[in-house]
Amino acid sequence: MTELAGRDDGAIGFPEGFTWGASTAAYQIEGAASADGRGPSVWDTFSHTPGKVRGGDTGDVACDSYHRYREDVALLASLGLSSYRFSVSWPRIQPGGRGPVNQRGLDYYRALLDELAGHGIAATATLFHWDLPQELQDEGGWASRDTAERFAEYATLTAEALGDRVARWITLNEPQVVSTNGYRNGDHAPGLSDAAAASATTHHLLLGHGLAARALRAAGATEVGITLDLHPVRVLSDNGSGELERGRLITDAAANGIYLEPVLHGRYPAHAPQALLPPAALIADGDLDIIRAPLDFLGVNYYSPIFLRAGDPADLRRNENPARCQLPGVVEYLPEDLERTPMGWLVDPSGLHQVLVDVSRQAPGLPLYVTENGCAAEDYVNPDGEVNDVERVRYLHTHLEAAARAIKDGANLAGYFVWSLLDNFEWGWGYQKRFGIVFVDFGTQRRIPKASAAFYANVVGANAIPLLTANWPL
Ligand code: FCB
Repeated sequence: MTELAGRDDGAIGFPEGFTWGASTAAYQIEGAASADGRGPSVWDTFSHTPGKVRGGDTGDVACDSYHRYREDVALLASLGLSSYRFSVSWPRIQPGGRGPVNQRGLDYYRALLDELAGHGIAATATLFHWDLPQELQDEGGWASRDTAERFAEYATLTAEALGDRVARWITLNEPQVVSTNGYRNGDHAPGLSDAAAASATTHHLLLGHGLAARALRAAGATEVGITLDLHPVRVLSDNGSGELERGRLITDAAANGIYLEPVLHGRYPAHAPQALLPPAALIADGDLDIIRAPLDFLGVNYYSPIFLRAGDPADLRRNENPARCQLPGVVEYLPEDLERTPMGWLVDPSGLHQVLVDVSRQAPGLPLYVTENGCAAEDYVNPDGEVNDVERVRYLHTHLEAAARAIKDGANLAGYFVWSLLDNFEWGWGYQKRFGIVFVDFGTQRRIPKASAAFYANVVGANAIPLLTANWPL
């Protein structure tokens, strides 16, 4: 384990060679929705369906990064970042999700990769960040096993064409969200509320991950991983009945284990609620071996923990919600003493420390990357033309401290990517929620680095978290 540098100036140092990056996703930033032969994805269909996305926003134009990628790569370079995590849009490569490649789609990513290479920035490419080709959805989407096979084909085509320039491949982004929000709750594309489809989706996403990982390696990739959203489950009070501990195990299995255990250990978690698990009939012999093929790293997205306390789900109090563990004496709740972002998400840096240390215990030696972490804030351009996002600076500062502490406590953390480089299309929230360290004026497409970008560049340059003066950045 690398020792953290204790430095004379009091700053907290990161290990030498630590990767510093920023993340984006294709549908959230590219725009150019019908350019150069791109086919429609489920997010095009969903966002164009009235009532699905706030304000009727769509990704048609987004940040127009499809045309402005040079400017965006220059931004990455100006921050001193060593890696860029972006996603490849499947419907640009295979407009209908199968068959021959659309060369013009590949050309875009080749140009982006050349630009990154020109600035010495390593590419971290996600193959699936939620924009499934609509034609595959019409045949069942991830609820159909065939989609996993199609995904592996797409992985092969993409890696053969672009692999020489990609340092690190991520198969899937947050499969939990696809299954839960896309297929079970319906507040994400494809907008289904179908429990059976959701649990089938869980298995087929995992199978798709395993098949794609194999395909990537066959095409010569050496750094292959998956990105999971992980949510530490915390119990603040115990009534001594053991019910809360049972609730914690079930909630952890439902939120995390259902993806983490198959990928790391080739099994679905024992404590997961039956209703979330794929039925045995869908799990073919050998599937779990494919799914647990060794990873080179695990991507961890961290935003918020889940809190449990004793309570009555039939008589909820303020800040309480029904618990996904569905035990009669247990509720989920939002502690009043923790801040919340404009998304309503709890701010709890110690949760990042906890997930990193926990996962490193479960998978000793496996390198971890924080592939997303960040917050929405009520950003605006002040009369001096600046965006003084002090909330985000504080968020990043405290979370980076937590990451540094996790390394000290045994987490095998190799890098950190902030979500996000740019304000962008925040799924069901449209453009109302800004997560960027760079402000985007969506009317003019002007980019304005925020105070958090300056703070982050400072961290990256020093490979350390500086001690901020009490009144920074004033
Ligand atoms: C994650 C997504 C990412 C972004 C952030 C805020 O769940 O992976 O695309 O929307 O949340």
